[in-house]
Amino acid sequence: MNTAVPATLTVTSKRVVAEDVVEFVLGSADGRRLPDWAPGAHIDLALPRSGTMRQYSLCGDRWRADAYTIMVQREPDGRGGSAELHDVVEVGDTLEFGGPRNHFRMAPAEEYLFVAGGIGITPLIPMVDQARRLDLPWRLLYLGRSAARLAARAQLERLDGGRRRVTVHDAGRAGRARLADWRPADPRVRVFACGPARLLDAVESWGAAPGGLPPRVERFTADAQGGAAATAFEVVAARSGVSTVVDPVESVADALRRSGVDVITSCAQGVCGTCETGVLAGEPDHRDSLLDDDERRSGTCMFPCVSRSRGPRLVLDL
Ligand code: FES
Repeated sequence: MNTAVPATLTVTSKRVVAEDVVEFVLGSADGRRLPDWAPGAHIDLALPRSGTMRQYSLCGDRWRADAYTIMVQREPDGRGGSAELHDVVEVGDTLEFGGPRNHFRMAPAEEYLFVAGGIGITPLIPMVDQARRLDLPWRLLYLGRSAARLAARAQLERLDGGRRRVTVHDAGRAGRARLADWRPADPRVRVFACGPARLLDAVESWGAAPGGLPPRVERFTADAQGGAAATAFEVVAARSGVSTVVDPVESVADALRRSGVDVITSCAQGVCGTCETGVLAGEPDHRDSLLDDDERRSGTCMFPCVSRSRGPRLVLDL
């Protein structure tokens, strides 16, 4: 479990970079270097008015030690976090943050295909930069409802250096993309994708090319599908010596808190990784959007803000 104490960041730049998309550059309030990060990482930001935490992928230059860059798309149907950042936060404001954390690591590969939908481009920009620095072959398919909403296009063109590895699909003009045409047949190509659920479902449905590995995706909202219906079960916090019953309508995290066990959560949607917990016995019913297939099968950790139990009893390292 990540127990990093939130520190403070100061907003040094705020600018509109696409329709409904604002870029924030955040520096350390005291001028010290910021913690290192790798492509795919995100930070947790405490929103200034509500105090709730939201997760934002780092999309700037990872070699710059004094600044983090994030992009935030206004989500009219969201939970208010994006509107708060767009409307309330200004240059000079300070925000508490946690992390960086990385649940979307850029695994080594001989070649990459990146697939981004809208603001899902953010974790993929540093991956494109890394592939470029390593001189590895890569392609990017960047899809959106309209070209005006696609941020960072000039930055991506610079990273491409005129080699035409970036394909922009403007669905407003060209209609739905023929995603199946992009499915790699070569097992050396590793796919990383981020964006809306429907896009990621389609990319995941490609599966692995023979001898290759399946696509890795990062979801901004939790995968609502669980493997089993929500039923009551017993959860044991082994280190705390506490046992309680998780009702069908409450999360494991809430049940444990009700029984006096401290469980730190942030997104409460299985997308940020804050509540990662070791599993000592029992079989988790994974409902997060973080673990890959191998990690799910191993059953050694889970995210109690959303995940449940497939059996009558789950023992956690808490
Ligand atoms: Fe974010 Fe559990 S609190 S994954």
